[in-house]
Amino acid sequence: MKKNITVIPGDGIGPEIVTEAKKVLDTVCEKYGHEFAYTEILMGGCSIDACGVPLTEEALATAKASDAVLLGAVGGVVGKDKWYELPPNLRPEAGLLAIRKGLGLFANLRPAYLYDELKSACPLKESIAEEGFDMIVVRELTGGLYFGERKTEEIDGVMTAIDTLKYDENEITRIAKKAFEIAGKRRNNVISVDKANVLDSSRLWSKVTAEVAKDYPDVTLTNMLVDNCAMQLVKNPKQFDVILTENMFGDILSDEASMITGSIGMLPSASLAEGKFGLYEPSHGAAPDIAGKNIANPLATILSAAMLLRYSFDMDAEADAVEAAVRQVLKDGYRTVDIMSEGCKLVGCSEMGDLICERI
Ligand code: IPM
Ligand code: MG
Repeated sequence: MKKNITVIPGDGIGPEIVTEAKKVLDTVCEKYGHEFAYTEILMGGCSIDACGVPLTEEALATAKASDAVLLGAVGGVVGKDKWYELPPNLRPEAGLLAIRKGLGLFANLRPAYLYDELKSACPLKESIAEEGFDMIVVRELTGGLYFGERKTEEIDGVMTAIDTLKYDENEITRIAKKAFEIAGKRRNNVISVDKANVLDSSRLWSKVTAEVAKDYPDVTLTNMLVDNCAMQLVKNPKQFDVILTENMFGDILSDEASMITGSIGMLPSASLAEGKFGLYEPSHGAAPDIAGKNIANPLATILSAAMLLRYSFDMDAEADAVEAAVRQVLKDGYRTVDIMSEGCKLVGCSEMGDLICERI
């Protein structure tokens, strides 16, 4: 199959980890007879430096015209990088929000699972880690507080800031459908997380979600309040299969879910539009402190490439092969420094990429 992939190396460790993911995709092409063409675009700090804005219209158009997008990471350090002296709408992260909105990426999938080989890195009690867990956070990505009206103004001599949390039933329906479809391919369990004891947007959320659930009789739907969910994630993570939630709650809970895996360097993510199009990126950030040292863990980006193969290209066998290669490399005892433990073999970013390719 011939496919066009837009590649966004971005900032910090972005370029290094994306190089490894491309290596893996090229290996998949050789093995399975595909042809992937890559077009690079700038986004984030590097785009600010080159073009004055974190994402240009042309870059967005290039991404839109392709079959899928692979992203490394964007951003730098507040107080250190001059990008953060700019107004908020011109900072690196604004590029990320602009591409999400511009490409209609409303469904953010963030899996969090505990690898057997990495159980010792789990910060939870051994009795909980022993049980293992495998969940996916399905986060609404183009609505809510992130994209509602906001302003800061003086009202009666008092500085006042307003952010708006708005959802309409169509936005809730389409993300709920995604969550139920995904649950149908997993363990048939959706926990919808909201704050329905306080927020109107949450009450609409749970009403619409219950309505959508009727079309998926095999899937169980439960509601959970977001504060309780934060607690349950560290108390009994095994109970979760699919967590369905709005943008802001999903931002917070997905960080918590990734932390309990003990290895954020391992977690991929997908941001999907209507149809097959999607943007794929590691769950971690640009880690500028370790950039350029060839010590970053490329596995989250490589696993994001696997998600790209699966969700955008329907290449399930190819995705399985990449994921199996990652598990095999861990079994064989290779580790980057962030997941290193006693008795394992320490490797750098590019060596890790090579080891994965050898096993595909
Ligand atoms: C994420 C990040 C972004 C978000 C930031 C960088 C704007 O935290 O992808 O989770 O809040 O969505
Ligand atoms: Mg976040």
